[in-house]
Amino acid sequence: MSTTVSLSTYSFNDYRSLPNTELNERIAAAKASLGDRLLVLGHHYQQDEVIAHADLRGDSLELSRMAAERPCEFIVFCGVHFMAETADIVSNRPERLQARGGRRTTVILPDMAAGCSMADMAAIEQVENAWDDLGQVIDTRDVTPVTYINSAASLKAFCGRHGGIVCTSSNAAKVLAWAFARSQKVLFFPDQHLGRNTSLNMGITNDQMPVWDPYAGDLGGNSRKAIESSRVILWKGHCSVHQMFRPEHVAGFRKRIPDIKILVHPECPQEVNDIADLSGSTGYIIRTIREAPAGSKWAIGTELHLVNRLKQEHPEQEIHFLSPVLCMCATMYRIDLPHLCWSLENLVAGSPVNIIRVDDNTAAYALLALERMLALA
Ligand code: 13P
Ligand code: SF4
Repeated sequence: MSTTVSLSTYSFNDYRSLPNTELNERIAAAKASLGDRLLVLGHHYQQDEVIAHADLRGDSLELSRMAAERPCEFIVFCGVHFMAETADIVSNRPERLQARGGRRTTVILPDMAAGCSMADMAAIEQVENAWDDLGQVIDTRDVTPVTYINSAASLKAFCGRHGGIVCTSSNAAKVLAWAFARSQKVLFFPDQHLGRNTSLNMGITNDQMPVWDPYAGDLGGNSRKAIESSRVILWKGHCSVHQMFRPEHVAGFRKRIPDIKILVHPECPQEVNDIADLSGSTGYIIRTIREAPAGSKWAIGTELHLVNRLKQEHPEQEIHFLSPVLCMCATMYRIDLPHLCWSLENLVAGSPVNIIRVDDNTAAYALLALERMLALA
């Protein structure tokens, strides 16, 4: 290491202006000193310099599986808040705690400001109010609540309590099939686009999918008839990154490069998803590019850092970013080398910072909904 770290210095301010070379060395040294006790997980949307330090990288489903399966003392999660909450819940589930003599896995999010604007679009009070309001019109025993994993632990717990389930973008169709085997209707939150795109593929029509706007007053702005005849009630939430992709971007590429293929994430709006050649989760996008014949041409509609990494890793393909506007996930981007180094060195010093700890009651119900999903996926 080029600089000796004073372990009594925990202030993030001391890390802000350190050069990347020094941060990289210190992160590597901190990781080496923690060895197998530590697991650094990184979501594919992270910037390259952070991903370089991840022991494992994956999409939301893969990361929740990794957290559930790999025993360790500490998880430093280079992702966003809901992912770290999920890691806390699955890595500290009762049988794991028992096997470790009651010792918890400590889950750390290097920057607490790394949230998700979509997850913030559904608050537990709003979902509970919606459920009560629905109960005035339909029998909610015939509604399965399904939450996208991009949601607070309290919403996952709501699903656990009400016979519901969690989904990710890679298993949404399987999860909806599971839900429809149990009930006539589904309440899907917080991402209307993933819910709509997946349901349309299953033959459900838009007139069977009213959108519940928690700010629109009675019945989320819907008529009684619309709720009664619904199959999937979609929450009015979206991803601020993926909603930036527009049909005109698709048309522009097709005009300029006639043999291009358009590959998008299902968090994109229906009007983009419908005209794309292929649509699928982050993991699906990566596999599609990896398996494509050399010389294929792609315009990809998903987070910028992932698309740029695919370009670097696949020089044999011609890869374009679908939008002329740079759509990156600003909250994932909060995780940077200074925050990673700061959190790791505090961990080495025995004074962990930014611990994500879901309360036991919420965790127990959220685990029910997560386990239903993990058993399917
Ligand atoms: P996946 O990792 O499931 O594709 O989800 C994308 C995303 O928005 C993560 O926040
Ligand atoms: Fe949330 Fe969208 Fe960022 Fe994913 S990409 S963390 S859904 S804001």
